[in-house]
Amino acid sequence: MKEKLINLVDQAEKNRRRLCRLIASSIKPANEEQIAREFSALKAGIEELTSATNSAVEEADQLPRSLSPSLSDLCQKLEQDICHCAQTPKPASQDWKEYLAEQKRLLAILKNEIQNRWNQPLQIKILGIGEITTTIEVLGEGSLRRRHPESGQWVRLAVKKAPSFPTRSGAEKYQSLCYEYEQFLSARLGIKTPFAEHKLMPGKNGRWLVYNLQERLPSESIACLLIQVASQEMIERVFLRLLQEMKKIFLWNHSHPEYLLGFDGQIPNWAFIRFGPSHPVIEENEPLLYIDTTTPLIRGEGKEQLDTEIFIKSIPLILRPIVRRTLLQQVLDRYYRPRDVVLDLIASFITHHRGDLVPRMVELANQGMGKEIPELGLEPFSAKEILSYNRKDVLIWKFFRQMKRLDRFITEKIFGKSYEQRLPSGSPRFWENLVGAGGKGLTVPESLKPLLQQKIE
Ligand SMILES: Nc1ncnc2c1ncn2[C@@H]1O[C@H](COP(=O)(O)OP(=O)(O)O)[C@@H](O)[C@H]1O
Ligand SMILES: [Mg+2]
Repeated sequence: MKEKLINLVDQAEKNRRRLCRLIASSIKPANEEQIAREFSALKAGIEELTSATNSAVEEADQLPRSLSPSLSDLCQKLEQDICHCAQTPKPASQDWKEYLAEQKRLLAILKNEIQNRWNQPLQIKILGIGEITTTIEVLGEGSLRRRHPESGQWVRLAVKKAPSFPTRSGAEKYQSLCYEYEQFLSARLGIKTPFAEHKLMPGKNGRWLVYNLQERLPSESIACLLIQVASQEMIERVFLRLLQEMKKIFLWNHSHPEYLLGFDGQIPNWAFIRFGPSHPVIEENEPLLYIDTTTPLIRGEGKEQLDTEIFIKSIPLILRPIVRRTLLQQVLDRYYRPRDVVLDLIASFITHHRGDLVPRMVELANQGMGKEIPELGLEPFSAKEILSYNRKDVLIWKFFRQMKRLDRFITEKIFGKSYEQRLPSGSPRFWENLVGAGGKGLTVPESLKPLLQQKIE
């Protein structure tokens, strides 16, 4: 919320400066139309800012008492001022100057109040529990923010902590693989990934940590929620778009056996970043991001670059050799086989409460694969196959999850140490926001509930 308000203040200030420049450059009648346009943009921006600030003030527990009246007062002044100016017929140049100077003063105070006096209590929120990591967000004092390098807007950050590494060089290798994977997907293949930083830090007992910071995306945008609230026609469009994106990897891998990319195409790994109550549609070139970039699977000259211990790090020591020999290779290979990647995407519809769509997705995938990537010669799917795959997949990941719990128990209760990953207590059956196979999926946020009820047409 805080970042959103600061972005809105910055935007209003930008609009105000543009208007200032226009007025200073000339007051010829020819410019009147342009001035009117800039003025309406400024007015709309101020209105959006005041309404967002008032909503924040209403959520009283987020704001210190001393701050809320002052924020509301400032907004009221800004709005009164702009309405007054809108009602003034043809203001003279001097009037404009005075008026815009006052807007500048008010916006600067508002920004300072929001930035420096609004201290929210520290809170940790679990955004999603995937197969490998738990993604969290730190809210309040100490919350993480960055200016997005492309949009220049303030964004909040999501944190995905990788399992710790025994050596600094191991952690650095992982860190550089993450950058390489993201860079390759977005710059080379055109599969966009969120803005991210991978931070290296010393951990306890000489170990090394990598904190993966990624721009925090709105929950509404995560595709596993989208398929719950969208119409079937829209979901079909989403599915075909995901196949189009994944085709880029399949074709790359097909012609470059010396540099292969593994990929997890499941539905919770995608975000249609504009989708939400104010944009409940999927357009042809809808902006889309692939978010699961912290398991950077790259096989260079047939050799897995990622230290795959990351997968079994959470399994108690005595069980690791057997898992390494049996499950691990099976699980890894799937991410490199196009047919398995598509199969996994369709099967993920079951976890995310849309098992009813499996037959239609199978149909679309069979048509699409035959038409778009005939050179891969992929065998068609059947709905039955997807169901049986899903049953096995749920078993594998449930096993991994139970192992994580056992590992936590041993680490905390027997060795009295602190457990590395953040996991909710109790049985995974009840964990909120567990997006891995067999989980409950993401909780539908309040903002999407009206859409869920209407099922957009
Ligand atoms: N940047 C983000 N912003 C918001 N939610 C996120 C973000 N990254 C991950 N999540 C949530 O966490 C879930 C799991 O994240 P993911 O990176 O796919 O982890 P894993 O590698 O364990 O599958 C996602 O499906 C999503 O719901
Ligand atoms: Mg994932």
